[in-house]
Formats: sequence, C-alpha cells, structure tokens
Amino acid sequence: MTNGNELSGDQKPNSLMLFGFWYRAIPSEQVNRNRLHKAILLETPLVVGRDAQGRAFALHDACPHRGMPLSCGRFDGQDVECSYHGWKFDAHSGQCQIIPSLTADQKLKVDRIYAGSYACEEHDNYIWVFIPEPKPQGAGFTKAVEPDVPAPRVPTFSDKFKIAHLTADLPVSVDHGIIGLMDPAHGPFVHQAWWWRSRHSIHEKQKNFEPIPYGFRMSAHTPSSNSAPYKLLRLYADADSITTTIDFVLPNMRLETIRAGKYWFSSLTTVTPITRSHCRIDVVAAWNLFRWCPLAPELLKFVFAKFVEQDRQTMEDQAAGLGYNPHLMLIDDADRPAKWYFELKAAYLESKRTGEEMRHPMAGPVTLRWRS
Ligand code: FES
Ligand SMILES: [Fe+2]
Repeated sequence: MTNGNELSGDQKPNSLMLFGFWYRAIPSEQVNRNRLHKAILLETPLVVGRDAQGRAFALHDACPHRGMPLSCGRFDGQDVECSYHGWKFDAHSGQCQIIPSLTADQKLKVDRIYAGSYACEEHDNYIWVFIPEPKPQGAGFTKAVEPDVPAPRVPTFSDKFKIAHLTADLPVSVDHGIIGLMDPAHGPFVHQAWWWRSRHSIHEKQKNFEPIPYGFRMSAHTPSSNSAPYKLLRLYADADSITTTIDFVLPNMRLETIRAGKYWFSSLTTVTPITRSHCRIDVVAAWNLFRWCPLAPELLKFVFAKFVEQDRQTMEDQAAGLGYNPHLMLIDDADRPAKWYFELKAAYLESKRTGEEMRHPMAGPVTLRWRS
C-alpha cells in the first residue's frame, strides 16, 4: 500500500555521487605553500598544495608504487616526493620524475608512470577540483582529464565588491544535505531569530519555478516582505523593486542573486559529497551593498554562520534518526524541489548510461504553493 507520498525508486536518497563535475575541495586560506594538505572528494583521497609560484595542484593521495599517501611525503615547491621509497612526481602533471632505486642499466620507463592528477582551479576563496568518471578497475593513471567547462563562479555585477565564505561539515549523505538546502518548509522551525522571523510569521507562499539546464530556477520576484533585512534593503537601495532568483544546478549548487537598483548580493552554495554518509556545505557570498560600512562583512558572516549552524545542528540530529533507516516521504508542494532534484539526478545518470541527451524532468514552468 502506498499513499502516493512514499519515495519511489529514483527519489530515494541513494547517496550516489555524480562524477564528471567540478567540486570545491578546500578553502584557499587553508593551503599554504610549504605544506601538503589532505582533502577527500567523492571518496577520492587527494593531496592538495601550491607550487613555488603559488599555483594550486591536486594529486591522488596514493603513491602508484605501493599506495603510500603522498600527503605523508615531502614537497620542494615543484615535485612531491613519496615518503616510502622516494619516488618523485611533478606536482601538476603527476608524472614520475625519478625512482631512486633504479640502477643506471635498469630501463624502466619512469616517465610513463603517473600519480593521478586532477584539473584544479582557484577562485572565489576556494580551490576547485574536477573529479572525472572513475576509470575501470585496475587501470593506472595517465594524464589528468581536461574538463570542457571552467569551474563555477559566484556571479558578480560590478567591479568592486566584497566576498566572504564559510564552511561546515554535515554528517549526512549529499542527498540529505542538498534537499535540506532547498527545503522551504523548515525555515519557520529551524531558522528562528528575532531579527529574521518568528514561527508565527508563517504564511502561504506561491513561487514560480522553471526548468534550466541541469536544474531549475525560482523565478525573479519581490521577496516576501515579512523579513526585516528585505525591508531595510528596499529603503537603502531606493529601488522600487528587488528581484531575486534562486537556481539549483546539478550536481550540488544553489545560486542566489538579489538585485536592487545598482546594488546586488549573490551567493554560490555547494554541498559536496565527501563520503557516502558525509558532506560539506560551503557558502561564498559576494556583494556591493553597504561597502561603506566596515562592519557589514562581519555582520553578514554572522547571519550566514548562524543559519548554517542551525542547518548543521538539525542535520546532525536528523542523522541519528536516519541511522535506523526509517521510511521517508516527500510531500507536495513543499518537497517538490527535492523531488526534482532526485529526478534530475536520475535523468543525468540515465543520460550517462545511454549516451543520449539528458531528458529534463520538468516540462515547463510550474507554480508551487506552501506555507512557511
Ligand atoms: S610507495 Fe611511494 S615510493 Fe614506494
Ligand atoms: Fe536552512
């Protein structure tokens, strides 16, 4: 028996991770030049560092000789040296440079050996790494896969702006992290604060959604007037209307843009799979509002940090419940974005499997209603 709200096959949080995308690996500030840093993305161990010029690199954190983590080794600003037998690898290409145990007449082709290397980009306070589709079992590494798109960026709309980021570990699978992020109904219960809203301000809402490539958009509109910050913004920007768009795009991105006259605020939030049961949320925000106010970045960071901490705490509590593998439901309309997420993910995986173009689960614009 099913009541229609039970989760069907491709709507289950199956914690499948999507390969073939850029992911945020580590905040830039955590990576200095003379140290090797560990990072894990999609259960792939990485060693991340910077060369003598400051350029970031990412290698598979397992020596192709006998599997020693390269992060245990030494780095001279150009090559990473494994701590076990001293093999050296170019930090960017991963190509082996030297095997100290070889005698002059032993003709092993050293330059054919690679420690896996990953395409790497750095901007908006983060080092991004491209995680390609896994190779067939037993295949060794060669050169890094060249992604055909650059790493995503926070949208900006003027030359001068401020930027800040924050990060938090979430003890749930990437699916629960993402649907928690796009869930409109938890606000009044999780994100209460006197300067934001109380649970009594709950009221009916109606929002328009439309399909976009690999995702969906909550279309531009004047945001609900029940929150003080928006009232303040309208006054400050002296703008008749404030438009916001919120996009979700596979594999894991939420982009929010608020524009009021010449002022703007935007953020790119990602939920990155670390393991099947663990993810990490990273928020990068950029804005040209209140640039004259020296305390604004701190204030904004405080607000964001508070929200993220409320979400993190909630998911930590939820993880305890999920540990018993309970039955789950997604209901209309509040959980429809979560349903779209699972359908998008399934459609993407299906397109990978068949080699055909991805079939978008939304036929056209949709209006959703809920109370929050
Ligand atoms: S395990 Fe790395 S050099 Fe032997
Ligand atoms: Fe939240």
